[in-house]
Formats: sequence, C-alpha cells, structure tokens
Amino acid sequence: MTAPIQFPGEARSNTVRAQIAQSEPQALRTFTPSQVVFAKSSGIFHYTPEGRQLYDFTSGVLVSNLGHNPRRWMQRFAKYLGWTPELLFGAPEASADVYGDAVTMTAYNGITEVEAQAVSRLLQTLNATPLGKRLDTIIWAASGSEGVHKAIYTSLARDKSRDMVLATRYGFHGKKGWANAVTGSEKDPERDPRVKFISFPMEEINDHSLNFDQISLEKYEQELAALWGEYGKRLNCLITEPYIGGGGSYHPPAKYHQMLQKFCREHDILFLFDEVQANFGRTGKVFAFEAYGVEPDMVILGKGLGNGVPVAAVACNSQIAGHMKYGEASDTWSANPISSAAVLSTLDEFDAQNLMPHVAELTPLFFQGLDRLKETGLVAKVRGEGLVFGIEAAPFGALAANEVAAKIVEACYLGADGVGIHLLGALAGKVLRVSPPLTIKTEQVQTSLDLMYQLLSKLADRLKG
Ligand SMILES: Cc1ncc(COP(=O)(O)O)c(C=O)c1O
Repeated sequence: MTAPIQFPGEARSNTVRAQIAQSEPQALRTFTPSQVVFAKSSGIFHYTPEGRQLYDFTSGVLVSNLGHNPRRWMQRFAKYLGWTPELLFGAPEASADVYGDAVTMTAYNGITEVEAQAVSRLLQTLNATPLGKRLDTIIWAASGSEGVHKAIYTSLARDKSRDMVLATRYGFHGKKGWANAVTGSEKDPERDPRVKFISFPMEEINDHSLNFDQISLEKYEQELAALWGEYGKRLNCLITEPYIGGGGSYHPPAKYHQMLQKFCREHDILFLFDEVQANFGRTGKVFAFEAYGVEPDMVILGKGLGNGVPVAAVACNSQIAGHMKYGEASDTWSANPISSAAVLSTLDEFDAQNLMPHVAELTPLFFQGLDRLKETGLVAKVRGEGLVFGIEAAPFGALAANEVAAKIVEACYLGADGVGIHLLGALAGKVLRVSPPLTIKTEQVQTSLDLMYQLLSKLADRLKG
C-alpha cells in the first residue's frame, strides 16, 4: 500500500484517496500531486465531493473536447443505441427478467448497423479533407495504444521482408505492444532492436516566440539518409506524433513533417501519423494531418473521437490493410456498438458546431495569458498551437523545475475561494499541459487565465518567503 495523498478539509476526497491507495497499485496512475477526486463534471468544470469548482484545463487527457456531459451529445448517443427514456427510467422497479429492446451492446463476431454508420461517417469526414481522400478503411480499436499497435502490425503485414520501424524520439504512443516499442528513446530499457529512433525538433522550438520557419532540417534529413543507408529496405514504416505530446509539448513547423513524408514516399516506407491526442480540433483543424499539410498512409485516432467513451481507430487505405487474415486485428471490444454510437455523436457535434474558428480566436488569448505567467518567475517557456499548450516550469529559488511544476499543480488545485484549476501531473517532469475543452467561452478563458496568474503569483510569493 502507498501512503495516500491527503489535503486538510477534504474528508470525502481523502476517504476515496485512501480506499484507492489501499486497493490499487500506484502504477495504475501517473503521478500528480493533487490526486483530485471528481464528484461530477459539466462543460468545462469539474466539481470535487466538497463542492469546489475546478476549471478543467485538461479535457480529461485531451478527450472531452466537446466538454463534459454535453447534453445534446448524450441525447444523440442514447438515441443511436435505442436507449429511450422509457427503457432507462420507465420502470425503476424493473425486475431481473424484464428486458429492453435496444441495440445489441456487445456484437462480437457479428455486425451492427450503428457500426456501419460509424465507419461510413468517419470515412466521409476524413475524405472531405483534401489530404484524407485516400483513406477508405477503418481498423477500430478500444484505446489509443491498441490503435498504434494495430497500425504498426498492419504496416508490417504489408511486407514481411521489411521488419523495421522508425519512430520519432521522445514520442508517446502508449504502453503496450508496438505502441510501447515506439515510445521514448533508445536509452529506455528493453528496447526492440527493430525500432530505430529519429530526432524531432525540440530545443530550437522550445518557446512559441521563436521563428520556427527558420529552423534548418538538414540534420534531420541526414539522419534519415544514414538510416536508409544502413538498413535500406528493412525499413517498413515511420511513426510520429504531429507534435510531441507526452514528451513535453513540442510543436514543429509543418515543413518537418512534410520532409518526413517525402523521405517515406521516396523509399516506399509507410508514413504513420499518431494523432490520438491531437485529433478532433486540438491543432485548430479537426484532424492534425490537415494542420501539418501531410497525407499520411495511416492516421491513428483516439481520445477525442469518443469524447469520453473509449474508442480509437486507424484510418488507412484498403491496399495496406488487405494483407491481414481473419482475426489478425480483432478483439472483444473493437467496433463495439457503444463506441460506434459515441463516434457518431462526436461527428454530429463537430458537424453542427463550427468550433475551428472559435479555436482560432482563442489561440492568441491563451498564448498571451500563458506568457504572462512568465512574470511570476515560475514559468520559463510556453509552447503550443490551436488549443493545446505546454508551459515549462522554471527552477525557482532552491526548487528545481520539476518541483516547481508540482507546486503549480497543487496551488491550482487548491485555488482560491472555492474555485481552482485542474491540471495533470507534469509531462516530461516539468511541462504542464493546458488543454481545456474546445467549447470554453472567450470570457471563461480570460477569467481562468487571470485566476491562474493570481494563483501562481501567490505561490511565487510563498516560495520566496
Ligand atoms: C499520441 C498518443 N498516442 C497514443 C496514446 C495512447 O492512448 P491510450 O492511452 O488511449 O492507450 C496517447 C495517450 O496519451 C497519445 O498521446
């Protein structure tokens, strides 16, 4: 058992924290100094069991892009599944032998109409973008890691004589199977010798104020050429994230990805774009490949695709996916009707709400508000795009940057006068993710960023004292 995090005055939350610490390994969660307990959520807010309100600066972890519990989304979701008010609430005293007529909840080895609708709508949405026209096949998965695993597996199945994978260093793709194999760098333990890591721009783009267009791609091109020289046709595919997410929020110029794509095309290497966290509007475009002007062979989608219901998908061309036999990409949950209904509801809402211009309006407000945090001395760098930002903590007094990051999370959680800000535990030790739901209103951006400034200013004063 691990000692649970506890905060004074939070009896209910502390009880839950203690129960969890007693019965689940700490490994189940990533570290956060707040270990918030959520009682309920609505829109851009979470509420603690003690009734405090927290601005959600995380959208789960870039999942609830449409906000938490959006009523119309939920109504559509229930409708796709045939969950009528009568079914759910008509007979509260229903006995065990009373059944509803609704869509089959688990359809393994069968097919549902809702799945057929979801696949066709998702492809339609992808095909409506100029760079998504070649995508005609969806491989469903239940989580982002599983999607990445299936994408690489599918890619390798295309040509078994080409057994090697290139991956951008310090990326995060998940913790299982191939997703784990392409996460991190060659320095991590138990590396798969079939994976070779390539560099992603980081230092030269470590603050949004820098001129990204001026960065030279020469060293990156040379690295790729050297790998081709060494391994040649063994190289099967290259996987990258649009921006390095879990590795600390590094958002490259589009020309970097275009260069990767060109290299891949020249050598018939498949170009895999893992936009599990970047999709559904984070970059300012619905799909990140649009924002970066590339036409990947495979696009891995997840998180925001279900707005809270677990679902992921690999979009590719049938010529690539056609090399696998029955069962090779199957599992219990992929293409399950609940996930399909969630995808349809998300697509409905993205069609109905014109969110991208709204995101474009908010981007400069966030840069302005987050840059202002540098005045406190606690923030060194600000990076981001669309509605996904990383603020890098600065060392302060005797505290190292990672300790400062943890103090910021805690101070934001505790807030002031019953209102706080929910942040995730730091990425790459010292980078805090700021990624509220895309539906955050302009005035809420101002209020929440002002609150963050006040909280950080007070924290800096305390740390000085
Ligand atoms: C880019 C990227 N790929 C894959 C994953 C893994 O997704 P999941 O946690 O749903 O398995 C993540 C999760 O954060 C991610 O950010």
